[in-house]
Amino acid sequence: METKILDVRALTEETLRRAQVFCEPDAARVVDDAMEKIREAAAVLRSGGLVAFPTETVYGLGADAFNEDAVRRVYEAKGRPSDNPMIVHIARASDLSLLTAKLTPDIVRLADEYWPGPLTMVISKREEVPIRTTGGLDTVGVRLPDSPVAIELIRLAGTPIAAPSANLSGSPSPTKAEHVIADLDGKVEVILVGPDSRVGIESTVVDMTAHPPQILRPGVITADDLAQTLDVTVGIDSAILTDDGVDPAAAIAAAPRAPGMKYRHYAPKAEMVVIEGKQERVRAEISRLKSLNEGIGRRVGVMLFDEKAYTEAARDFYAMLRDMDESGVDLILAGALAASGGLGFAVMNRMMKAAGYKIIRI
Ligand code: TXA
Ligand code: MG
Repeated sequence: METKILDVRALTEETLRRAQVFCEPDAARVVDDAMEKIREAAAVLRSGGLVAFPTETVYGLGADAFNEDAVRRVYEAKGRPSDNPMIVHIARASDLSLLTAKLTPDIVRLADEYWPGPLTMVISKREEVPIRTTGGLDTVGVRLPDSPVAIELIRLAGTPIAAPSANLSGSPSPTKAEHVIADLDGKVEVILVGPDSRVGIESTVVDMTAHPPQILRPGVITADDLAQTLDVTVGIDSAILTDDGVDPAAAIAAAPRAPGMKYRHYAPKAEMVVIEGKQERVRAEISRLKSLNEGIGRRVGVMLFDEKAYTEAARDFYAMLRDMDESGVDLILAGALAASGGLGFAVMNRMMKAAGYKIIRI
């Protein structure tokens, strides 16, 4: 299949503001041009085609959430197991009612506070939402992304858009258009080229059908954030790593409730090991292991973030994995982040999975 690659980088919050609020003709022209391409992509979605698009977390691979054939093609293009439910993306919070008949005050409160943004709420689904979209579940994960391109695309498509991350199943999530092109060129109708993803790791997934609500996948929005907004405690699925360090045995043994969490996701081709401990000792151990391994002819990549640089770590993590794979390293040595910060915990969740839970504590 010929994939159409459409550059819509000109559509940003800034150009939109300049075009719509300040009526600048130059801004209006670039916005119009980008909107024309987004309209074309939206028409593809409406007719059952697949469109990859940027969001603030990672790029998504979209299909009409109500079109079972289109959704089936998403699984095929990604090579993804079909019991893994998709997140359904909407362009305005009021569209929640298309997907659920059971809106609760807590759902509305979280939508008010965090949308558009990196929060997915799992809620009970309307019958009309195909179970192919929800991987056989009677719940649906819903999110309103914080990206002008994504919002315009969904709005113009006129239907909620089911979209998993736009990578081949098992490879790192894409945070740049080039990652999507590498994985999906020739497999989907359209790839929208937008900005690099600002957040860099996937949205927080919270199960709003549980009492109290439960985090199924950690992200930038933490359990504490949600607890504060709702004024209740918010649980964390025991399948996710525990907060006071990493418990690989428990993480592997517990059956995750977000089915997507059970696969060896985010995997680089190279072997990967996480080294955890005091910052200076970690650095020393990494350089020791590096020369040891290079001594026996292995190519070694090092992933080290500043101790508290959680935002940068989240933003760059997946791209670094891809870069290392591309440069053909055999071994990745990664320094653990302090998991206590909410975002550190979310990045460590991905890092441990990428490493297949291999960790050295020093
Ligand atoms: O940031 C994101 O969420 C990105 C962008 C594109 O929006 N999307 C994304 O989708 O990460 P995906 O398919 O790669 O991950 C969806 C996760 C999986 O772990 C899946 O099991 C879980 O959300 N999930 C979706 N619907 C669910 C449901 N009804 N019940 C439980 N877990 C669900
Ligand atoms: Mg994914």
